[in-house]
Amino acid sequence: MADLDALLAAAIDAMGKSRPTYSQFPVGAAILTADGRIFSGGNIEVASYPEGWCAETTALSHYVMGQGGTITDICVIAERLPRCTPCGGCRQRLAEFAPPDARLHLCADGAIVQTLTMAEIFPLGFDGDVLTG
Ligand code: THU
Repeated sequence: MADLDALLAAAIDAMGKSRPTYSQFPVGAAILTADGRIFSGGNIEVASYPEGWCAETTALSHYVMGQGGTITDICVIAERLPRCTPCGGCRQRLAEFAPPDARLHLCADGAIVQTLTMAEIFPLGFDGDVLTG
């Protein structure tokens, strides 16, 4: 599917722009919305190690600032892993914006290795509805 090819290419491109200065562990993420737009990002590390952040978080910030719509697909790729699953914090962040049926594609070596839904990768996540309702 052309959109998925473009999404994977965007994740790989973002991985190339990441800043894994201290871990040497480049990660790229890309988010596809229903209107065909793609928002991507890489992990960014700083000298005070805990202050760095993940690729998924960079991609989400572009998604929010770009006023993206419904998220349909997400690609995540890490150069040094055969299958990079988002960390716990990023699962919570992704679930804030991506619906339970959004597809999460775990990628490696220029290909999608496994596809899950957000509900599958993040069951029983904290539901913030109580905070706004
Ligand atoms: N990292 C991500 O970018 N996404 C994840 O889901 C897991 C970890 C980054 C954070 C840090 O820059 C590096 O990988 C090593 O943990």
